[in-house]
Amino acid sequence: MAAANPLNFFWFIPTHGDGSYLGSETQQRPPEFAYFKEIAQAVDRLGFGGVLLPTGQACEDSWITAAGLATITERLKFLVALRPGVVSPTFAARQTAALDRLSNGRLLLNVVVGGNPAELAGDGVFLPHDQRYEQAAEFLEIWSRLLTGETVDFAGKHYRVEKARLDFPPVQAPRPPLYFGGSSDAGQDLAAEATELYLTWGEPPAGVGEKIAAVRAKAKARGRRLRFGIRLHFIVRETEEEAWRAADRLISRISDEQIDAAQARFTKEMDSVGQRRMAALHGGRRDRLVVSPNLWAGVGLVRGGAGTALVGTPEQVAERLAEYQALGIDTVIGSGYPHLEEAYRVAELLFPALGIDRPGARRLRASVENEFSVGNAAPRLAAAAS
Ligand SMILES: Cc1cc2nc3c(=O)[nH]c(=O)nc-3n(C[C@H](O)[C@H](O)[C@H](O)COP(=O)(O)O)c2cc1C
Repeated sequence: MAAANPLNFFWFIPTHGDGSYLGSETQQRPPEFAYFKEIAQAVDRLGFGGVLLPTGQACEDSWITAAGLATITERLKFLVALRPGVVSPTFAARQTAALDRLSNGRLLLNVVVGGNPAELAGDGVFLPHDQRYEQAAEFLEIWSRLLTGETVDFAGKHYRVEKARLDFPPVQAPRPPLYFGGSSDAGQDLAAEATELYLTWGEPPAGVGEKIAAVRAKAKARGRRLRFGIRLHFIVRETEEEAWRAADRLISRISDEQIDAAQARFTKEMDSVGQRRMAALHGGRRDRLVVSPNLWAGVGLVRGGAGTALVGTPEQVAERLAEYQALGIDTVIGSGYPHLEEAYRVAELLFPALGIDRPGARRLRASVENEFSVGNAAPRLAAAAS
């Protein structure tokens, strides 16, 4: 059943690679711009509202990729991940304004401080967990004041700038919106203070509800209101059996050693609360992957970050999404392996159940008889004319 206000449904550009089997090189797709272009152009036509571009050592650069894709898409928004600690706030503000102009106001930023100290050390970031958020708060203050037209003098613990200014403003006023991904208390404080939309990975509804309540309370204490979004993979098929078969197939080539190595990385090497919550859902066990109805944690056996998928028929998945929506979620960032084919499945099977329009759908409805509408076109044309 479609809710009154359809969800904003985004997709994902797999800048760290794509494939058909997790943990296997068989049918792997390298992270190439030509492939990102295929996905972006497909989802632009299919009615997705935007795409998330992640950031990290193993990702093709999110800014450069978004800039390239903005020039060959029409409607799609670009949710570009930004790690505050690795660039200067003034430089990031200049890039933000430039990309907002280049895309004609289609830029959104996802603030992510990073959750792997070893990886961050490679970028010259040696701050412990909570201090990374302290640094990000200073960063966002300078960034935001610059984008809203101020000339900025700032002397903080992590940054000092004098007479910083932006000569070319962004298209969006007062500035491009900030999304935020992070689950720790310090992260939620920053989200409540400085950002507009809080994102969570796909935990079961009870956990998501807890987080939303905590962030709402923190925002309220600051006289602010936030929007909420969820990041999930999708395996949607016409029958439930087909969907679960596809889920099993996706992890059919992962070895136990690969699972152990990945779980050790997530729980020992990383200091991300969000990552720990994801790993705790299944504890690395193949027999504990269904963590709530239609919510499957198989992806998280080897993938960091978003580790759960909604698996089922369009009606089942729409019902589960309506449960998240009832908690306050208005935005979904989806993905699926491989990202091109699964984008089509989501748009063709799930969007009708969610009440999301495909931009080309009117042309389909008005089409003359062809091999897909034999005998059906006349009544539809008559209905359209009445
Ligand atoms: C939807 C979403 C997307 C994220 N994308 C990224 C990303 O692209 N790069 C990254 O380093 N961390 C990403 N993160 C993870 C965190 O922002 C951050 O790196 C850290 O792990 C959060 O730590 P915390 O949960 O302890 O606050 C994402 C988180 C969420 C919820």
